[in-house]
Amino acid sequence: MRELELIYEGKSKLIYSTDSNDRVVIRFKDDATAFYNIKRAKIENKGKMCCAISSMLLSYLNKNGVNTHFVEQVDAESQLCRVVEHIPIEVIVRNVIAGSMAKRLGINEGIVPENTIFDLCLRSADLGDPLVNDHHVVALGLASYEDLQTIYEISAKANSLLVDLFNKAGIQLVDFKIEFGRAEDGTLVLADELTPDTCRLWDIDSGERMDKDRFRRDLGRVRETYEEVAKRLSNVLK
Ligand code: TMP
Ligand code: ASP
Repeated sequence: MRELELIYEGKSKLIYSTDSNDRVVIRFKDDATAFYNIKRAKIENKGKMCCAISSMLLSYLNKNGVNTHFVEQVDAESQLCRVVEHIPIEVIVRNVIAGSMAKRLGINEGIVPENTIFDLCLRSADLGDPLVNDHHVVALGLASYEDLQTIYEISAKANSLLVDLFNKAGIQLVDFKIEFGRAEDGTLVLADELTPDTCRLWDIDSGERMDKDRFRRDLGRVRETYEEVAKRLSNVLK
């Protein structure tokens, strides 16, 4: 599959068209950004690590009945993916209270609720990706109630598969963000990266953070930690 032209450049990824109408190539960059580009850095090897981690996780989900846009890894930094019509909603799945939820509601990080929490955010950097609910999403014409039902079902299934896999790697999956798209056949598929940039991962033994919070909160060893996540996942998926 030949890469043709750059069609989109995001903060951490580039998207290229290919000689097939229903495929794109997504290339991961070494850039790390947080707080809407206020904090920026280049982290050597990050593109490769995120590509490897996301490829492992999306292919694991594909094999276990959660359809994603991922087709195959094409080189160390790039994935071949299905073209989808992207829905501009972020779905955040939380198994443990952390991050913005802890801050917004004044709860300590680390509390484990009895239920799984699903948040929806509108993807709009100008508005600061505001929290929305099902009714807002339907009113904005972004998805129907039936679509949302499917999105919650896929998100819950992905969560239980990922919790189980990360557990085997000695990592607690605290929370993660995913996005969805409509494929050519009209079905909803998970269409996003799954990396330490978009998940909170805590080492089960030490509680140490193994995700982008190391960068956001200046905890150091970002590169080494992403490499450790890739190594552990590759060992459990062997
Ligand atoms: P939050 O605590 O900031 O709401 O983040 C929850 C999870 O979602 C965390 O794993 C980081 C991820 N996330 C993204 O990947 N992109 C985003 O824009 C936001 C807000 C969160
Ligand atoms: N929405 C955040 C940002 O703009 C994402 C994050 O902190 O991961 O960088």
